[in-house]
Amino acid sequence: MILDKLSIINFKNICEEQLHLSRGINCFVGDNGAGKTNILDAVHYLSMARSMHTITDLQSVRHGEDGFIIDGRFVRDDQRAEQIVCGYTRRSGKTLKRNGKEYDKLSDHVGGIPIVVVSPGDTALISDSAEERRRYINRFISQTDRGYLNALIRYNNTLQERNKLLKSSPSEEMLLIYDAMLAQAAETIFARRSETIAAMQPLVEQYYAELAEERESIAMEYRSELQSASLQELLLQSRQRDFVNEFTSVGVHRDDILFSIGDYPLRKFGSQGQQKSFLIALKLAEYTLLAKCGEEKPMLLLDDLFDKLDMRRVAHLLHLVGGEMFGQIFITDCNKHRLERTLGEAGAEYKLFTISDGKAVTL
Ligand SMILES: Nc1ncnc2c1ncn2[C@@H]1O[C@H](COP(=O)(O)OP(=O)(O)OP(=O)(O)O)[C@@H](O)[C@H]1O
Ligand SMILES: [Mg+2]
Repeated sequence: MILDKLSIINFKNICEEQLHLSRGINCFVGDNGAGKTNILDAVHYLSMARSMHTITDLQSVRHGEDGFIIDGRFVRDDQRAEQIVCGYTRRSGKTLKRNGKEYDKLSDHVGGIPIVVVSPGDTALISDSAEERRRYINRFISQTDRGYLNALIRYNNTLQERNKLLKSSPSEEMLLIYDAMLAQAAETIFARRSETIAAMQPLVEQYYAELAEERESIAMEYRSELQSASLQELLLQSRQRDFVNEFTSVGVHRDDILFSIGDYPLRKFGSQGQQKSFLIALKLAEYTLLAKCGEEKPMLLLDDLFDKLDMRRVAHLLHLVGGEMFGQIFITDCNKHRLERTLGEAGAEYKLFTISDGKAVTL
C-alpha cells in the first residue's frame, strides 16, 4: 500500500498542506516542534482512525479552528486507487470515508491500511506495566483477526460482569455460567497470543542480531497463567480468594510478555540504545508478520530515526528496511545533514521534505 498524495487541513500546527509522496523513502526534516511527527500522525489517522498518541481528536484540531480534514490517495499493491478521508468537527465528531462512502463503524476500517510505527514513546512497552504490553499485542493481532477482537470484547465484558457479581453474594450457578463464558473467550485469546508470540520470537532475535551485529542476544517470552491449566480450572481453584478480594484474580487479563537481554530483564539491564534496538526489532517482526498475512505491504513510520541509536545501528536499520520486503517508509529527523549522509551511504533513494512551522518545502 502506497500513500501517493496527502492533504491536511487544520491538523495540529498544520494549516493547509498537500504532499506528493515517494513510493520509497520519505524524509521529513526540521527543527524541534516544526511539525514532523504531526505529519506522521496524520498518516496514522488514515490507517487507524485515531492519533498515535494518547490524545483526543479535539486535541488534534488546530488551535482556534473548528475541525480537521486528512485526505489520502492510496495506491494498492494491485495498482487500484483508494481514497480515505478522515474528518473531525467539534459539532459532528469524527467521520471516515473510503472512496466517498462513510463507514458505519470506524472499527471496520482497521486493518485495511496496514501500518507499523516506531516512535520514541515505544519505550513505555519496556518500562511500563504488563498492561502496556497486552495493549500492544491486542492491537497487533486485532489488525488482522476480527475474531480475536470479538473474543477480547466478550472477555472484557464478562470479566466486568463477574467482578460485579463477586461484590454481591452470587449463587454457585451464576458463577459457573460466567466462568464458562470467560474460559471460552480466553481460549481464543490465549491461542492467538501464543501463536503470534511464537511466530515473532525468531524474527525479533534475527532482526536484533542484524541491528546489533550480534554483540548481544535478546529474547521474548509469553507468560500466561493458562500455560499451566485451563481457565475454568484456575477459576475454580481461586474462587475463595476471588470472593474475599471481590475481583477475578486469574485469567488472560494478567498475561505478560517478558523481554530479556543476555538472560536478564531488558528493563533493568538494557542500555537505552539496546532497548531502542529491541523495540525496532519487535516492530520489524510485526511488519513481517503483517505483510505475510495481509494483502498489502504495510507503511512503515520511523519517528525520530536517530533517537538513542548510534550511526552503525541506523545504517543497519536503513539497510534492512531498504530490502525487497518493505514498502513505503516515512522517516523524521531533526538533522538534515546527518540523515542525508546516512541515506547516501546506504545507497537509498528518497524524497526529502523540509518542515518549518507546520509547512513543507520540497527540495
Ligand atoms: N492542536 C494544535 N494546534 C496547534 N498547534 C499544535 C497543536 N497540537 C500540537 N501543536 C504544535 O505542534 C508542534 C509539535 O509538532 P511535532 O510534534 O510534529 O514536532 P516535531 O517536528 O516532531 O518536533 P521534534 O523534533 O521535537 O520531535 C508544537 O509546536 C505544538 O505546539
Ligand atoms: Mg517529533
